[in-house]
Amino acid sequence: MADHQGRGRPALAGITLGCDYNPEQWSPSVWLEDVALMTVAGIDLVAINIFGWSDLESQPGRYDFDRLDAVIELLHANGIAINLGTATASPPPWLSAQHPEILPVAADGTRRFPGGRQAWCPSSPVYRRHALALVEQVAKRYGRHPGVVLWHVSNELGCHNALCYCDVSAEAFRAWLRQRYGTIAALNSAWGTAFWSQRYHDWAEIQPPRATLSAGNPTQILDFHRFSSDALLDCHQAEAEVLRRHSDAPVTTNFMVTAHIRNLDYWSWAPHVDIVANDHYLDHRLDDPTAELSFAADLTRGLSGGEPWMLMEQAAGAVNWQPYNLAKTPGQMLRNSLTHVARGADSISFFQWRAAPYGAEKFHSALVPHAGTDTVAWREVLHLSAVLKRLREVAGTRVLADTALVFSWPSWWAADGDGRPSEAVRYLDQVHAVYNELRKLGVTVDVVAPGADLSAYRLVAIPCLYAVSDADATRINEYVAGGGHAVVTFFSGIADEKDHIRLGGYPGAFRDMLGISVEEFFPSEPGRTFGLSTGGRAGLWAENLRLTTATALTRYTDGPLPGVPAVTRNTYGDGTGWYIATALDTTTLRDVLRQAVETAWVPATGPEGDGSVEVVRRADGERRYLFAINHGTTTVELPATGHELVDDQPITGTLRVGAGQVRVVREDRAR
Ligand code: GLA
Ligand code: GLA
Repeated sequence: MADHQGRGRPALAGITLGCDYNPEQWSPSVWLEDVALMTVAGIDLVAINIFGWSDLESQPGRYDFDRLDAVIELLHANGIAINLGTATASPPPWLSAQHPEILPVAADGTRRFPGGRQAWCPSSPVYRRHALALVEQVAKRYGRHPGVVLWHVSNELGCHNALCYCDVSAEAFRAWLRQRYGTIAALNSAWGTAFWSQRYHDWAEIQPPRATLSAGNPTQILDFHRFSSDALLDCHQAEAEVLRRHSDAPVTTNFMVTAHIRNLDYWSWAPHVDIVANDHYLDHRLDDPTAELSFAADLTRGLSGGEPWMLMEQAAGAVNWQPYNLAKTPGQMLRNSLTHVARGADSISFFQWRAAPYGAEKFHSALVPHAGTDTVAWREVLHLSAVLKRLREVAGTRVLADTALVFSWPSWWAADGDGRPSEAVRYLDQVHAVYNELRKLGVTVDVVAPGADLSAYRLVAIPCLYAVSDADATRINEYVAGGGHAVVTFFSGIADEKDHIRLGGYPGAFRDMLGISVEEFFPSEPGRTFGLSTGGRAGLWAENLRLTTATALTRYTDGPLPGVPAVTRNTYGDGTGWYIATALDTTTLRDVLRQAVETAWVPATGPEGDGSVEVVRRADGERRYLFAINHGTTTVELPATGHELVDDQPITGTLRVGAGQVRVVREDRAR
């Protein structure tokens, strides 16, 4: 639970609109224009001072707050609330010039230079001392300012600098390991150092998993991920402690719940922020970027324990850091924004306010593009603002979901480790595969931590949960025994939290619950597929699965294991465990999930389809809102009765959602 009480959420009403703002890049005459335009656009909340360090502290201990004072007064005088950055994300050049030892070191021992951002070692006491001195100044000066409604610690902690292998980090890693294991014997046993003559006799012999000739020790690598996540959390906590001493405003930091960054175990972070905030960018390197947005939003809501959360950054148009930076199509920014709202966000913010004319992100989109305000982009911002104001009453409600999906960062780290049966089996791909088909079935999913209380859910999906502790596995098995329904997919329950294989037949943790036992994995080359007795195809993976108490739902007709079950179902206690032993084609996967959904009596929120129509509900005791988002190219009709808020009109029985449109209905209770 939260380690701080009573701060709650920023004092803002409705569904707020916000942005990052970097006034240090602009002259004061532009600030005036900015604030005037922010007022036109109905901007509620502005994040400033995120990269302000070199501006605020030109020499060690010499602070100049004139510019920041002026910006804060200007925003406040215009009724724009401030999300104040601590300015520690990117240290000034003088700090690394005086203290090159704060610069991070890569696994091969080479140090990274300054010149980008986040060039600091998370374990560096020198960095920490200078950063906290700055935070102390900022917090003291602005901690009671009525315009400051929220604190923004650093920025995307661990985006670039999560894994540092320097000697200082090595020492901190050893201290962390002593805490975790107590004795060197316990560490030797956890790390399996009997293998390859790695037994340690002294803590001083232990190193971070630096570049090696052969494969490294998997548990050492896994623990280094855990340590690195904790080291950055400690940086967050140190800043938060200073802020909380000088201010009652809530404290947060922007998480990166996204497909391309996996450095932090946010389940362990979430209790330490007053409100959960996430940055999300569409990733066009994925097969279905829109579905990934929904997944990330559901996972962020999970981190928030179901409470409303903040989208701290997204792009108005294209980003500039993917190989091909796709612009948004008309209406897409609104759909993306309202997908976050539908899935629990009460605040929609952007990186950034005004597109920069210089710097590494000069081609990144912004609310005010290079071309100015006589633009499609700007008109879309005004439209979004108007829509968010009409959705005001939705704020504070919670998303309704009867299905959970178990997600684990340590399992991600371990499952994608070196020396696994197939490098084509990647944790997040398998999670997305299951999530995407549930989404196409119209099922709203809560993403939960391993070990979460599952009793409220009718169905639980457990994709590729490779490493799972005894306690967390027991929780899942007891949920099923007590009448729950679980769908487990291959490469789950294989190892414990130390990444030691569970012996006696795979998938050790769930063998009894699933009523199967597996002797050997048969991964196959990507692209090769095999037939199934019920039609459809599978690929990537097969297992010589033996039924103990389960029944086979489909079997391979060819491939490495003809006749062997590919999907099974087992009665366990009062519940049911399904097992999917291979990568099914999407239609077949959806068929299996549909059976589970029907057996578990999960009510779909929306119609089954290709995922282009999303329907999600938010509710509280009194009110219920249906969000319908049509990413497709044809109009759809849905049953609904109530009042539509985007267009402000009554709906009597049928809701039409045009191509590309979003509709939000306050549903009548009595039907
Ligand atoms: C991140 C950062 C921002 C900016 C954007 C660009 O989310 O927090 O400072 O770099 O990405 O997409
Ligand atoms: C990372 C972040 C992005 C963006 C880029 C910029 O990939 O996730 O949001 O900030 O760095 O390089």
